Amino acid sequence: MKYNFDEVINRRGTGSIAYDGQYKVYDYDNLEPFWVADMDIKTPDFIIENLKKKLDQSHFGYVVWKQDEYLSAIKQWYKRRFSVNVQKNDIYYVPSILFTVTEMIREFSKEGEGVLIHTPAYNAFLNLIEGNKRVAVESPLIATEDGYHLDREQFEKVASRSDVKVFILCNPHNPTGKVWTKEECEFMRDVCEKNDVFIVSDEIHMDFVRSEQGFFSMTNLMKLDSPILVVTGLGKTFNLASLASSFMITKHRFTTLQFNRKLSAYYGLAAANTLAVEAVKVAYTQSEEWVDQLNQHIEKNMTILKSFIDNEMSDQLSFIKPESTYLAWIDFSKSGYSEKEVQNALQSVGKIATGLGHSYELGDSHHFRLNVACSEEKLLKGLQSIKQSFDALNK
Ligand SMILES: Cc1ncc(COP(=O)(O)O)c(C=O)c1O
Repeated sequence: MKYNFDEVINRRGTGSIAYDGQYKVYDYDNLEPFWVADMDIKTPDFIIENLKKKLDQSHFGYVVWKQDEYLSAIKQWYKRRFSVNVQKNDIYYVPSILFTVTEMIREFSKEGEGVLIHTPAYNAFLNLIEGNKRVAVESPLIATEDGYHLDREQFEKVASRSDVKVFILCNPHNPTGKVWTKEECEFMRDVCEKNDVFIVSDEIHMDFVRSEQGFFSMTNLMKLDSPILVVTGLGKTFNLASLASSFMITKHRFTTLQFNRKLSAYYGLAAANTLAVEAVKVAYTQSEEWVDQLNQHIEKNMTILKSFIDNEMSDQLSFIKPESTYLAWIDFSKSGYSEKEVQNALQSVGKIATGLGHSYELGDSHHFRLNVACSEEKLLKGLQSIKQSFDALNK
């Protein structure tokens, strides 16, 4: 491989939440982090070099994001990577993904009304729904040996509830790594359209799809005024989470008008981050090979994890290898231990911080989430830590 994704990088002491923000969530300090969804992998040099050039200009006044170079870079990326023809005037810079999701929840539902979501769900969605005094209405995914499946009957049932106004689709899905098929997307679109439910498709993990079928973006299903909005950005793919490099794509004219009006006249947030605009221009024109090789590295780490669980811990853990994302959703039901017992062992014995299952599920959880976007060396140590933690529980 041309790029080295096995370089061990030290992020402790740099203010990274994964390393230095553990005290907010865990009972122990200095855990090896496998929890936050960012990478122990450097942003590629060609992006950094470009950002340095921008820094050398030494002026950071307000920038216009509506530049042809910016919009063309996004358009071309979609064309080359996902074979979809996005119109430049349907693309809008947004301050963050979660900010945009929140605004859509607020725009299309009232307090007390329902927001449809597949469970398990990305924990921030559940927090935002609750924080905005809406109700999370679940459509649980069905887990089988060969992956996670949409429960069509249940989806239709909940989408037709009169209090459900918005559907947050996580496409691809965090935490399971499910890749939605074209048929599933069309089905969900049809059901939502029939029931007047607005679709917000969070596609931030779109560049990590490794299955043959590839990624099917909801942008494929947009016609003029379709009640669909896609929001995504560079954050995950290029490890630029704190750069505010997100954008949305929609043909729903009412939403764009309302949203842009609010951004400038209500929040005063209309200006873009200069470095984010630059990063988009470079990343989406120069990174093809880097992204492909990054995915090979993630696939290799997922395979290591899968073999480890199957060969060494199959009596306690189950794991469906995901087709997308760098996140592994690991089931410990077979072990018979509670989440509290498992988390206590992972932290006090294994000294690792994993994603807490109960924050992704509405009831009891028998899962933890493991981020494998790291060197093979770090992953292998983490796997030994998991084994030692369960061995200690079994004693
Ligand atoms: C599905 C999903 N959406 C959004 C985010 C965060 O996006 P942002 O930081 O731009 O709000 C994450 C981060 O883990 C995520 O997994």
